[in-house]
Parts: sequence; C-alpha cells; structure tokens
Amino acid sequence: GTALPFYGPHQPGILNPPPAAGLVAAFDVLATTPEELQRLFRLLTGRIAFLMAGGTPPAADPRFPPNDSGILGPVILPDGLTVTLSVGASIFDERFGLQALRPRQLVAMPRFPNDAPDRDWMHGDLLLQICANTPAATLHALRDIIKHMPSLLRLRWKLEGFLPAGLGDASAETPRNLLGFKDGTANLDPADATLMDALVWAGPAQGEPAWAQGGSYQVVRIIRNFVERWDRTPLREQERIFGRRREDGAPLGRSAEHEAFDYADDPDGQRIALDAHIRLANPRTAESANSRILRRPFNYSRGITRAGQLDMGLLFICFQADLRAGFVAVQERLNGEPLEEYIKPTGGGYFFVLPGAAGPDAYLGQGLF
Ligand code: HEM
Repeated sequence: GTALPFYGPHQPGILNPPPAAGLVAAFDVLATTPEELQRLFRLLTGRIAFLMAGGTPPAADPRFPPNDSGILGPVILPDGLTVTLSVGASIFDERFGLQALRPRQLVAMPRFPNDAPDRDWMHGDLLLQICANTPAATLHALRDIIKHMPSLLRLRWKLEGFLPAGLGDASAETPRNLLGFKDGTANLDPADATLMDALVWAGPAQGEPAWAQGGSYQVVRIIRNFVERWDRTPLREQERIFGRRREDGAPLGRSAEHEAFDYADDPDGQRIALDAHIRLANPRTAESANSRILRRPFNYSRGITRAGQLDMGLLFICFQADLRAGFVAVQERLNGEPLEEYIKPTGGGYFFVLPGAAGPDAYLGQGLF
C-alpha cells in the first residue's frame, strides 16, 4: 500500500517505474466557460491528491449515495497509485480562450502510413493515465473521478493495460510485451536528472510558453499485435525483426541484455539488421541522440475481433520534451519496418502533461488561468 508523492514540479506517473496495472482514459470536457474549466482542474487536483494519499472517505447519510464506490473496501489504500493529467490540442480551441497558450507542437495526432485509425479510440480534451499495483485500484480511482465531476467531463475512450506482476521498483526484471520480448531494455534512465531535463521536461528552453515549464509531451498509441501470425513465425525471424534475443533481451551477437554494443562494428547489418526495430528506433549516432524518448508502455487485451482473432497489443506511451525531435522522428524512421507485418496502430493521441502542482494550495493547470 505505498503512497507516492503527488506534489512537486512534475506530475507522478512518468519517472517512477510502471507498476502492474495502468489505464488511460480520454475525456471530452463538458465545461463551456474558462471559469468552469478552472473549477474542473481544481476538482481533479483535489481528487487525485486524496486518491494518491489514501484514507477513509467520510460516511454518508444512507438516504444518499455513498461517498465511495466501495470496491477497495472502507479504507482506501494508495497501492502505488499515480494519476497523471494531460491535455489534448482541442482544449486550446476557442471554447476557453486558451489559443495563445497552446504548447507549440501540440496538434491532433496525424495518421502514419501503417495506421488504421479508429475515430472512437482517438484524441480527447483531457487524458488521465492511472497506474497502480492492481487493476482494482486504477478502476476505483477512475470511478471516483467520474462520480465527482459528472457535469464537467464525458468519457470518450478508455484502455486498460497490464505488465507482469512484481514490477514497480527499478530493480525488477525488464517486463515482456505480448510478442514475448523484453521491452524497455535500452530506455532512458529516469534517475538521470540531467537527461530528464534535456529530453523529457518541456519549458521555455524548448520554446514553450512559460506556464508549460515542467510538463511533457505524452504520446499514446494503441498498437494491435497480430499474435496468431507472430506465434507461427520462426524464432530466428522474430529476433531479426527486433535485433535482440528473445530469451534474455541481449543484442544479437552479444551475450547479456545490457552489454554495450556499437553499430559502427556492424556497418552492413551482419549481426543486427539495418532495418531491425532497435536499429531504426535508435541508430545511436550523434545526430539521433536528441530523438531519444522515455517509453512507459503497458500490454493490453480487450476481447476478440469480428474475425475471431485476439485483440491484444501494446498500449504504447512515451514522454519527451520535444514532440518532433522525439516520437515523430523515431516513428518516421520506423515507418516501413519489417515489424509492421505484425502490428497495426489503431488509436491514441498526442497530449501534453501539465506541470506538477507545487503544494496543497496549487492545482494542476493553474498556469493556464
Ligand atoms: C525498443 C518492441 C513500438 C521505440 C524496443 C524493443 C522491443 C520493442 C522488444 C527492444 C528492447 C528495448 O530496448 O526496449 C516494440 C513493439 C512495438 C514497439 C512490440 C509495437 C507493438 C515502438 C514505437 C516506438 C518504439 C511505436 C516509437 C515510435 C523504441 C525505441 C527503442 C525500442 C526508441 C529502443 C531502441 C534502442 O535504444 O536501442 N521496442 N516496440 N517502439 N522501441 Fe519499440
């Protein structure tokens, strides 16, 4: 039942290791005036601060609905909960007069060549990323938030994700995705504050408006995996596609997951193919160094398709200070990669994580008003 800190220059749920359960829920805002939007941000901040700290909700008069859904019992244990609030480009339209304050790269996510976008699973005025040690704790938080602001928010889409249990601390083994490979091996080190300032946190240094200091661009991609096809693909082909060994995540031609390697030793792709996922995603050249991103994905499984295939894949999430230099540059290098035969991005969106709330008197989004 650990409680993670909520207040600070950055929101939680970005640098802390992902726990076993994580969902994203996108909302349209029903508020119609700047004052109502401000009230919504204050209310959201209050609920998030309460949920992350945990405690006992006040008893209600039984003639009225209870103050809490009760699904976690009478006492709410924080259970590693983080709730991260981000905004979509649409919040900066004419409704609230915030046009001039839009983070300069925040637009609706475009369609990439391999995408099959489903409008029902894309975009949103607001996004909540809710992570905890158990799915029950994430759903409890979502229900609490929806219950407390019915006239201000309408749910647009939601996707629940999971990781192998026993995560949540930095020493844990790298989690595997649903294609069976370790995912996160070469990720940025969240403990490296200088690196985070350079590559994750946005602000005036990146040309963003002053209010955005300490925020971050968040990309969410719902990427279906064609697992039936993958499970009938030879191991050698699977490993060639990623450039790493399935068993332990070692780069091909090396013997351990975290062993150092240099593509300069392998200019023709004898060991790691030139179009391997890891080589395209991060060619490790001086020019590509500023395109590194902080990935924090979950696996998802949401039933079956009309054709009777499993509908599962990667709830890809990444954070970066500069959207174009980060996700967009990486995705453009990946366009046309051999992995595309086995994956289909169908939804998600671009969002901007609001800076953190400094303390109990502050609220998320305060800099917008
Ligand atoms: C690395 C899987 C989509 C960016 C990896 C690795 C795996 C993997 C197994 C190697 C282990 C690691 O270093 O984490 C997948 C799967 C995807 C997917 C199954 C889709 C279903 C994406 C997307 C992006 C991306 C959409 C960004 C546009 C990266 C990056 C690395 C990586 C930057 C690290 C490369 C390095 O620094 O060596 N991915 N990935 N991946 N992936 Fe993906």
